[in-house]
Amino acid sequence: MSRSGLILGIESSCDETAAAVVERGAQTRSSIVASQIATHAPYGGVVPELASREHLRNIVPITRSAMAASGYSLADLDAIAVTSGPGLAGALLVGITYAKALAFALGKPLIAVNHLEGHIHAVLLEERQRLHAASGAGEPIPLNSDENGLPMPALALVVSGGHTHLFLAKPPAAGPEIGAWQYSLIGRTLDDAAGEAFDKVAKLLGLGYPGGPWIDNLAQFGNPTAVPFGFTQIKVKAHLEGKTPRTKGAQTAPIADLDRHFLFSFSGIKTAVLRYVEVHGLRASCDARQRTLMEMIGSGVTPTWRDARSLCDQQTLDLIASFQHAVVGNLLKKTFAAAEAIGAASVLVTGGVAANRELRVRFTAEAAERGLPVAFPTLAMSTDNAAMIAAAAWPRFLAGDFAGWDLEANPRLTLA
Ligand code: KG4
Ligand code: ZN
Repeated sequence: MSRSGLILGIESSCDETAAAVVERGAQTRSSIVASQIATHAPYGGVVPELASREHLRNIVPITRSAMAASGYSLADLDAIAVTSGPGLAGALLVGITYAKALAFALGKPLIAVNHLEGHIHAVLLEERQRLHAASGAGEPIPLNSDENGLPMPALALVVSGGHTHLFLAKPPAAGPEIGAWQYSLIGRTLDDAAGEAFDKVAKLLGLGYPGGPWIDNLAQFGNPTAVPFGFTQIKVKAHLEGKTPRTKGAQTAPIADLDRHFLFSFSGIKTAVLRYVEVHGLRASCDARQRTLMEMIGSGVTPTWRDARSLCDQQTLDLIASFQHAVVGNLLKKTFAAAEAIGAASVLVTGGVAANRELRVRFTAEAAERGLPVAFPTLAMSTDNAAMIAAAAWPRFLAGDFAGWDLEANPRLTLA
C-alpha cells in the first residue's frame, strides 16, 4: 500500500463537472465543482447534449484546479477514480475517457465508482473527517468498521434528481485492509425520484431550475398544512408488481422482491399539484411568473427565489409548502419504518434533496425521538461532487479492485 493514499476523483454523471483529491477516504485535500445550472436553466431541465459539451469544456481545467488546490502533483497520486454510472451516457463518457487517459499516461490504477455509492460515502467521508479533527491525530482516520463515525449497519436514503433509493450499507467485515462495502437494496421509487418531483412541480409553477432550492426557500412563507396532500396520493401501483420499475435511473431487481412498505412513488403528487393549479385557476399566474423569470434571464440577470417570492400569492406559497411537507413526510415515514424493520443502527440521508431544510429538521427530530443517530452531508457535499467519488474508491483501492482499460459508461448501473 502506498504511503500517501491520495486518490483523484472525477465526476461527470449529470450536470456537474467535478474533480477532487481525497486522502485515505478520510481527508479532502481539494474539491472543485463546475455547475452547469446556468446552461440548462433556460430549458427547465438538463439537456444531455449540452451537458456533454460542457463536461468536455470543463474537465481539464477543473482537474487542474483540483490538483493545484490539493498542493500535490499528479505523480503523487495512487489512483484515479471515476464515476462509471448511473447517469447520462454521453456525460459519463467524458469523465471516463479522461480518467482512463490520465491513469494510462501516469501508469496509475483506474477505479470505477458507482455514483450512488459515492453519495453514501459523501456522508462517511465527512463523519471520518469530523472524527479525525476531534481526535487531533496527524494521520487521517483509516477505514475501519469501528471508525465510521456512525454506528453500522446504516440505512442510507439516497435522494436526488435521478434517484430515491434505500440501501442498507455495511462496512468491510474484518478491519480496514480487507473487503468492500456491502449494500442491500431495501426500497426505491417506482416512478419519479423525489428531486425530479421538486423539479417538475417547480417548473409547472413557473419557478426556476433546479426546482429543489426554489421550493425549499419559498416553502418558508407558506402554510404546510393548507393543502392536504395525503400519503394516499403517493401510492404504490399494484399493477407494476413483479416488473422492473420504469425509472430512468439505476435498474434494480423486480420490485416484487422488495417490501412494498418501502417503495416510493412521486408522480402522483406532481399530478395532484397540477390538478390543484388547474382547479384553482392558478395556471395564468404560473405562466406569467415563468415569463417574467425568463425575461430576466434573457436580459442577462440571474433570477433568484427572492424574485419569485414577490411573484407568488399566498395561495401559491401555501401550495408550495404543502407539497414539500407531503414529500418530506413520505420520505420520513418510510425511511424510519424501514430502519426499524431491518434493525439499522443509524440513518444517513444523502443526494441533492438532502440539502432540504424541512427534511433535515424533521429527520433530526424523528431520529432523536427514536434514539437513532442520523447524519447528512454538508450542503456542498449533498449535491454532486468528486470528493465522494474519491472517498468511495478508497476501500476499492485497498482491495485492489481496479477497472480495466475497457471500462465503459453504464447509464443504468445498479448498486446492490
Ligand atoms: O445529487 P444531485 O446534485 O444530482 C443527482 O444525482 O440527481 O441532486 C440534484 C437534485 C435536483 O432534483 C434538485 O432539485 C434537488 O437535488 N435539490 C433539492 C434541494 N437542493 C437540490 N431538493 C429539495 N430541496 C433542496 N434544498
Ligand atoms: Zn447525484
